[in-house]
Amino acid sequence: MVAFGPRLSKLLRLMERLPGFRDFYPEPLPHADTWSADARQFVFSQWRETARRYGFREYDGPPLEPLELFTTKSGTEIVGQLYNFQDKGGREVALRPEMTPTLARMIAAHERSYKKPVKWFAIPQLFRYERQQKGRLREHFQFNADIIGETDPAADAELIALLIDTLRAFGLTEEDFVVRLSSRNAWREFFARHQGDPAREYDFYQAIDKLERDTPEESERKLAATGMRLEQVKAFIERAEPTAELTPVLANLAARGLERFVRVDYHVIRGLAYYTGAVFEAFDRKGEFRAIAGGGRYDNLVELISGGRIKLPALGFGMGDVVLLELLRHRSLLPAFEAGLDAFCLIEDETLRPASLKLIQELRAAGLAVEYPLTPAKPDRQFKRALDLKAAHTVKLEPGTAGEPQVRIRHLRTRQEHTLPLAASAAHLAAQCKKRGEQPLA
Ligand code: HAM
Repeated sequence: MVAFGPRLSKLLRLMERLPGFRDFYPEPLPHADTWSADARQFVFSQWRETARRYGFREYDGPPLEPLELFTTKSGTEIVGQLYNFQDKGGREVALRPEMTPTLARMIAAHERSYKKPVKWFAIPQLFRYERQQKGRLREHFQFNADIIGETDPAADAELIALLIDTLRAFGLTEEDFVVRLSSRNAWREFFARHQGDPAREYDFYQAIDKLERDTPEESERKLAATGMRLEQVKAFIERAEPTAELTPVLANLAARGLERFVRVDYHVIRGLAYYTGAVFEAFDRKGEFRAIAGGGRYDNLVELISGGRIKLPALGFGMGDVVLLELLRHRSLLPAFEAGLDAFCLIEDETLRPASLKLIQELRAAGLAVEYPLTPAKPDRQFKRALDLKAAHTVKLEPGTAGEPQVRIRHLRTRQEHTLPLAASAAHLAAQCKKRGEQPLA
């Protein structure tokens, strides 16, 4: 074994990431196991675009919150996973493990300024000290979409339609995923009908939540502690009858032609404590991955967080980037990411560098992505760099026959070349890029 000195060991430690955290690299990726900043940006832009099509507005909150915001409302599972500490002012704080309590606080603070129903979305980075496993890390990004101020099941259907269309925007179809629809109310009624121990109701929900992962013996033991029997629970799940609360949601989705994407499945109950009505989770059809998204109604959370001052029904879902990216990669649904450079400016004559810099700035002002050699370099090395960066064109400033400045533009794929007066070059190149679908980045 190689023994490193203490100084080298310390330096090597500096190279390590914390377990469960990610670095995002630009493509092409240095290693198959690294995460792509381009893929992340692609996911965010699809999330934003679908939210826009559904009329949702973007909001955000702080990544660090008072610890109490999560300890009272989210339930034991999340509390056990908190990254919390005392700040220098002696406050107990936590990195946000989820967005919903922050949203409830924000809405409670300014609800009068917004017409109901409010439709908002956010893309926060969240932190949970989880046991690391496939699809679960200690930080992730989550697309959150919520509707506040509407009790009608039409809102539940609108949100589930958004969830379905978000996944469809990535090219996933009904063969790839399904939304499993369930109801906390259905389970609450079931628990009351079978005379469960009221003090153990949340434990009962937790046992249902883990039913598919626990062994039958574990489930039987957990359910018995709440006054329930596995056999009764299984019979209820197998019947899969939609409750009066779920029927209009299913009908609404059917009217949109989305019924193929949903099925009633009472295995779903959701681990978080605050859910009250319809709940749902999206899974890949083959069951190879963990949940892609999850959500539901939480009609009491705004009231709880505002200390009873504001009563507003609410519902929403969260979709994480980790499982989604695993699934998209697995189904080869991620596009090839390129640097998207419109032009590389060759500077072969250093006396022309100041004028070339002026040209580069003009091209950039016209919305084009432009690169050039920062320091003097041999022409062949410059050209190689243009190819490495996959530039669509090279541009080169050169004196015309009468000494007037002109620009030689070369399209690298077709090798077509032409020369233009300096003043006309920026507009011409911008038009060329647009025509060929090589959109300027602006
Ligand atoms: P959640 O089920 O805890 O719900 O998380 C939603 C999704 O975030 C999961 O389905 C999963 O894709 C992803 N996710 C959660 N934890 C991790 C993790 N440790 N690593 C990677 N991905 C993860 C909520 O957070 C609710 N606040 C959602 C919501 C919004 N409900 C109403 N509005």
